[in-house]
Amino acid sequence: MQNTPIAPDIESDLSQLPLPPLAKGLPVLGSALEMASKPVDFWVEQYNQMGPVFRVKALNRHFTVMAGPEAVQFIVKMRDGVVSSHGTWADFAAESNAPHMMTMLDGESHTRQRRIMRPGVSRSAIVGRFADVLQITDEVTNDYFQAGQSYSAMSFFQLLICNQLGLMLAGRVAGDYMQDIVTTIRTRLNTLVLKNQPRLALKLPGYRRASARMLEFGRLIVAERRARPAPETPDLVDDLMAAMDNELSDCTESDLENMVLSPFIAGLDTVASTCNFVLYALLKNPQALERVVQEADRLFADGIPTPDALEQMTDLHGAVMESLRLYPVAGILPRTALRDFAFEGHRITKGSEILAAVMVSHFLPRFYPEPYTFNIDRYRAPYHQHRQQGAFTPFGIGSHTCLGAGLAEIQIMLTMAALLHRYEFELTTPDYEGKLEQNPTLTLGYKFQVRVKALRHAPITATP
Ligand code: HEM
Repeated sequence: MQNTPIAPDIESDLSQLPLPPLAKGLPVLGSALEMASKPVDFWVEQYNQMGPVFRVKALNRHFTVMAGPEAVQFIVKMRDGVVSSHGTWADFAAESNAPHMMTMLDGESHTRQRRIMRPGVSRSAIVGRFADVLQITDEVTNDYFQAGQSYSAMSFFQLLICNQLGLMLAGRVAGDYMQDIVTTIRTRLNTLVLKNQPRLALKLPGYRRASARMLEFGRLIVAERRARPAPETPDLVDDLMAAMDNELSDCTESDLENMVLSPFIAGLDTVASTCNFVLYALLKNPQALERVVQEADRLFADGIPTPDALEQMTDLHGAVMESLRLYPVAGILPRTALRDFAFEGHRITKGSEILAAVMVSHFLPRFYPEPYTFNIDRYRAPYHQHRQQGAFTPFGIGSHTCLGAGLAEIQIMLTMAALLHRYEFELTTPDYEGKLEQNPTLTLGYKFQVRVKALRHAPITATP
């Protein structure tokens, strides 16, 4: 096995290879300002100037960037033992008191946890629950929206998505715990994974209170489940709890409490931010909006739709896919090099902090003509632009690829269809241009406001 190549060019004579070129930057700051102010364009520009591998300095941190389709193809073929997520997530796991957190595991224990979690976060967790998801959507929107009023779209989506995920995956809506979950996850990600906030934030009373409340929510989910008889159709929480006696017997009670919260950790900001982007992109592209609204009206003409009917909504699907492409909320995958290896004729040294900027592919004209144009027809026959090798990776690539991708796609389509069917939205400032930030996912932040211009239809789940 010793001579088996790990990836095509990994076994070349490493000592002969140069280190990747260093991106130009300011003294001391390096590229920190540009990385923060252009969270998408910076990486695309560097790729276009320097190719698929380069180094970046940001203050006292040094990154090796593997970018574009070359990085995607390399990671797809890569064997275990070349890179790891452990270094990225270890501090987050320690702060969460979760020594077996899946995102930082590699190898067999990682594969085992994925196998246990997969059914509970798959498409089947939502396809049988359309009535419940739409009921929650109606309830939240009825309480929230009034015609003529303006709202931060992100605040709204966080509340809605948190309750939908809670209902589908944890057996209870998050209710008052929503803000605690948001505060805890964001603070931990920003301080311990992205490291764009000082660790001092973890000592502040607001965070400590939120963190204790999030833990309380995890304990509540587990306690309620222990108190009820075994269900006929187990969900994510049931699967995890059943596995604690055998496959997950090395996990602690605190691991379990964190695992039942994992849909919120992985899904809340990603799905809410993506919904926010879909709404923004459609309001900026009125022709696409009109087509999607017409589809949504057809979808709900006879009440609660079937999953098949939803999947036939090609304009809505195109709008969601195009938002995932143009606004890849988790488009850069952080890793650490476990050994020296070669990539695209350069040496990547053991211990390097790697950023796999796979989302660069989304902006290359060779895959997507006029890549910055919002075009919802790219994904239908005969184009299928996303199916080209290495062209579309909004849910990541390799062994840690998103487990909730299928569920998220349906959740976003159903949610956006329901909102656009029921309400007419408009931008509060017609020429508003959203500013992208990395906090902690790629996001428009809370500043993007929409006005509810009119109520178009009655609640979908209202009894006639
Ligand atoms: C638009 C929505 C979403 C996007 C764009 C997204 C994206 C991603 C990406 C890029 C990764 C890989 C991270 C890496 O390799 O470092 C990931 C991992 C993961 N996602 Fe998602 N995600 C979304 C929604 C969800 C939802 C709704 C769930 C579950 C309910 C979920 C569960 C997970 C899990 C458990 C992992 C970790 C997998 C592992 O470490 O093996 N995601 N996601």
